[in-house]
Amino acid sequence: MLNFFHADIAKTDPLVSDALNGELHRQQTQIELIASENIVSRAVLDALAHPITNKTLEGYPGSRFHGGGEFVDIIEQAAIDRAKELFACDYANVQPHSGTQANQAVFFATLKPGDSILSLDLAAGGHLSHGAAPNLSGQWFDSHHYGVDKETGLIDYDAAEKLAKSIQPKLLIAGGSAYPRAIDFERLSHITKSVGALFLVDMAHFAGLVAAGVQASPIPHADLVTCTTTKTMRGPRGGIILTRDTSWAKKLQSAIFPGVQGSLHSQIIAAKAVCLGEALSDEFKTYGKQVLENARTLAQVLSDRGFNLVGGGTDSHMVLLNFSNRDLRGQQVQDMLAKANITSNKNPVPFDSKKPSEWAGLRLGVSAATTRGLGKNEFIELGGIIATLFENCEQQDKAVVEASRSRVLALCERFPIYQ
Ligand SMILES: Cc1ncc(COP(=O)(O)O)c(C=O)c1O
Repeated sequence: MLNFFHADIAKTDPLVSDALNGELHRQQTQIELIASENIVSRAVLDALAHPITNKTLEGYPGSRFHGGGEFVDIIEQAAIDRAKELFACDYANVQPHSGTQANQAVFFATLKPGDSILSLDLAAGGHLSHGAAPNLSGQWFDSHHYGVDKETGLIDYDAAEKLAKSIQPKLLIAGGSAYPRAIDFERLSHITKSVGALFLVDMAHFAGLVAAGVQASPIPHADLVTCTTTKTMRGPRGGIILTRDTSWAKKLQSAIFPGVQGSLHSQIIAAKAVCLGEALSDEFKTYGKQVLENARTLAQVLSDRGFNLVGGGTDSHMVLLNFSNRDLRGQQVQDMLAKANITSNKNPVPFDSKKPSEWAGLRLGVSAATTRGLGKNEFIELGGIIATLFENCEQQDKAVVEASRSRVLALCERFPIYQ
């Protein structure tokens, strides 16, 4: 039994151990530009790998279905208090296992099957869990979508208003996974109120920027707000539900448990508490400012080199490129960057094909590389490398790829992680 408690994974499970080491090496030697990713602190990793993972609990602090919850209670209450302080709201539920489940719980608390919802179209940057056809939300609700203006790539608020008036949705949803510009929460809140609906803002992507004070908070305008603790929040995988209206508390508590989830994930709650504590620091405010500066720098460099940015730029951690005028697919461009150790993802652009293989977009996010320490000068360099790689998609010159890869590896060496 001694072996069970002490033996290293390298000895007990070489297959998994080797793959874990491979993943660490991959992260250390690639520049991560997937907008939904980040690099967590040692403290967050310590919480995730703690024996607290053994603890099963249902319910909420002070009201559990199992014994032995006194330490998890302290931790969950700290996470709740920190989330409330960070986002200046009056209720926080830190138990959602993911952003998708946070949204499901909001639906469970606010809607009945068949009710109509109105959200940002997937190709315009929305998210699957906001009523997309293949998702449970798209199957159980009568889902409609507003979009962006074809010319500007910005949300078409007038069209959204018209749609809301004709559909009379029960719930209007703002937020998404590939909308780079700031959202006018006030305008959407007015539209929502004018049709007697509820307003949900899913700030999964930009929650860290709200926390750092570099993007406007949706809390004053929305009935309910969801987010993930990954992405710009730089924490563990999981979700949070927030509101300033405590009359929702009872419904939201039971919508998560026993509504859409069972026991909580104790180690994740601990890591969320750590992440929320970090996000309250001055260092995180500096980080948020740097994220925005880096994203705008990258946008400027790519735009100066003639590449087409959806929405004309960014107010967030991400830029979305549209290659439809260059007869390139997102997959080709993603593959080209991967050859030079830059990780990214193909993405639909507004009015794009439904087939992922035909998508004309590429999404780039700067949160992870900013955590690594890259600043404005490094993003000027990285933007130049990326633009050269884009230009190399046609001729596929191996020397260009090799030179780019060496420069990316040099950046990785200058800004190491988890040494
Ligand atoms: C806007 C938005 N909501 C929800 C989610 C889902 O989060 P999760 O992957 O934790 O389910 C994402 C994930 O990318 C997202 O971008």
